[in-house]
Amino acid sequence: MAVIDNVSANGVPPHLRGNGAPVQEELTLTDLKVTGTIPAHLDGRYLRNGANPITGMSDHPFLGDGMIHGVRLREGKAQWYRNRYVQTPYITDPSRNILDMDTGLGDMAMSKANTHIFGHAGKFLALEEGHFPYVLDGDLNTVGPTNFNGKLTGSFTAHPKICPLTGEMLAFGYYFLEPYLTYLRVSPTGEMVQNTVITVGGPTMMHDFNVTENYVIFMDLPAVFDLEMAMRGELPIHWDDNYPARLGVMPRDGADADVKWFDINPCYVFHPMNSYEEGDNIVIDVARFSHIWRDGAMDFPPPVLWRWVINTKTGKVSEEQVDDRPGEFPRVADSVIGRKHRFGYEMSAPELGGSDSPLDDPGAIIKYDRVTGARTSIELGKGRSPGEAVFVPAENPSSEDDGYLMTYVFDKAKNTSDFVIFDAQTMSQEPVASVHLPRVPFGFHGSWVDASVAN
Ligand SMILES: [Fe+2]
Repeated sequence: MAVIDNVSANGVPPHLRGNGAPVQEELTLTDLKVTGTIPAHLDGRYLRNGANPITGMSDHPFLGDGMIHGVRLREGKAQWYRNRYVQTPYITDPSRNILDMDTGLGDMAMSKANTHIFGHAGKFLALEEGHFPYVLDGDLNTVGPTNFNGKLTGSFTAHPKICPLTGEMLAFGYYFLEPYLTYLRVSPTGEMVQNTVITVGGPTMMHDFNVTENYVIFMDLPAVFDLEMAMRGELPIHWDDNYPARLGVMPRDGADADVKWFDINPCYVFHPMNSYEEGDNIVIDVARFSHIWRDGAMDFPPPVLWRWVINTKTGKVSEEQVDDRPGEFPRVADSVIGRKHRFGYEMSAPELGGSDSPLDDPGAIIKYDRVTGARTSIELGKGRSPGEAVFVPAENPSSEDDGYLMTYVFDKAKNTSDFVIFDAQTMSQEPVASVHLPRVPFGFHGSWVDASVAN
């Protein structure tokens, strides 16, 4: 991997420049300036995770320490903004190395907890795909790692799916030693009720997966664990042209023998938008990279939206490019996860895939109408960069897109950030409300956690 070589003269790697730079202070701000009107029915927290190295330095964008940036909304007010490190063992002892085979990678409590945050069964869970989840409280204080009362024996993805119909949390874990892949199912009340080893051809990086009303779909793609790279202290994943790309379809309560595998063209997908069943077909919309990190290269073509349709009867998979505008961090309304979606949202990402300033200045939130084929966008203008847009429904929503898109927007000229609430239905360029904040560094994923889910 080229990260170590790709350092400027002043020693700052690309992912830590500009708004990639970590913040040092943990703040609690209660007297927040707001422009516009915060919808009064919103009662909960917008929470976003990201990598914020406590030492100020990390060798790779994925390896910084988890920091949550949160805004509490209630009764039309932004009650607080606070940012908190997830208190992992790396915070008390920053000399620990997550890539150390025995301690960092080998100890499931040694998470960086830096990738995503969910509310489920009354708990806030900070997630990173190589380890156990970390439980936080409603003020973003760390409670500690959880192994679901001993039922979780390996890693837990940062991209579980919470079924809007059953309340179950469907998940998986992958690892560089056998078992390479484990399917995990958590009940609506937070008990782990299934832990099933799934047979795959090798240790691949499986960042996310897909669910439908009856199935889960694993993405076994050619980004393969590399022991030699691990020994060199690099992020231990390489692209393998000889590793077949496959999708594995399994009933939600199925066993290893129930998985049906379908070959697809080589590609990499960090994030699907959503998936659903339609007759014998399983439809999956994804932000698709043609390849990643081939021969160690950090620059590769940017992701664009594709649709896969698996015909589970004939075994044929059709693969179609939907759009040529680069986009990543796809989301749908939580209410349609695993069900047929009409609308999906992405962060425009011309810089994703490698540049001097990865994640810098993407400048837009994109909305796809998968029925009409229309694409609309909120263009923030040069120097204004959003993060992943999280959809939150209106009070009595009249349609799938009747609601809001929430994210942090960084303003390069002011060197500050806003928490913004846009109208998802109209995609008006003007936010419904902006809460003015200090600079919030770029991060990964977030959630709206309604106070009825966790508080
Ligand atoms: Fe992700």
